[in-house]
Amino acid sequence: MPLVQHHHPLVHVLVTRLRSRDTDPDEFRRCARAVTALLIAESASALSTSTRQVQTPLEPTDGVTLKAGVVLVPVLRAGLGMLEAALELLPGAAVGFIGLERDEATARCSEYYRKLPPVDGNDVMVLDPMLATGGSACAALAAVDGSGCKSRSLICIVAAPEGIDRVSREHPDVSIIAAAVDRGLDCRKYILPGLGDFGDRLYGT
Ligand code: PRP
Ligand code: URA
Repeated sequence: MPLVQHHHPLVHVLVTRLRSRDTDPDEFRRCARAVTALLIAESASALSTSTRQVQTPLEPTDGVTLKAGVVLVPVLRAGLGMLEAALELLPGAAVGFIGLERDEATARCSEYYRKLPPVDGNDVMVLDPMLATGGSACAALAAVDGSGCKSRSLICIVAAPEGIDRVSREHPDVSIIAAAVDRGLDCRKYILPGLGDFGDRLYGT
């Protein structure tokens, strides 16, 4: 499945603000919401629609509605910074949660929470801003059974080639939408140049 790297100038401006060490948590949260809205718009351009009549104040006309339901799955904690913006654009979406935490020494993730709605027949969007080794994204995608889904996509803000390769290998049906594809990982498996620890910057930890 394709990797879509976003080339909108506003996405680059927002990612630059997210990268800067001088951006405080308040501005970081606002930029995360704004860039997520642009990424969701890109991802949603692949959703199918059906026609639906609507009555304007003057006359009836044809409109459109999304054909299938959407399920948003933010990966806790950092993915929570993307949820509000996604729900603004997809207010009818159901929301599931997966809590994953990387071990600082090994960079392997472990799951501490899972609550998912039914996903069969729906378009599923997993929200995780950082795709580094790909361990967390693959664990989240493994938790969301893709066999009955209409489509699955992974929406991230900064992706490393290592994570893109791993997700493409383990979950070839998944479309990856990324605002930026960075150079690689450092010895602690942080993305370079990256933006640091997204969750810590979001919440001022
Ligand atoms: C971060 C990030 C991803 C993961 C990416 O979460 O939000 O979930 O790391 O790294 P990976 O691709 O190597 O798995 P973290 O474990 O730091 O937890 P947090 O969201 O609670 O900060
Ligand atoms: N998680 C983050 O928040 N940042 C990285 O660079 C890698 C994983």
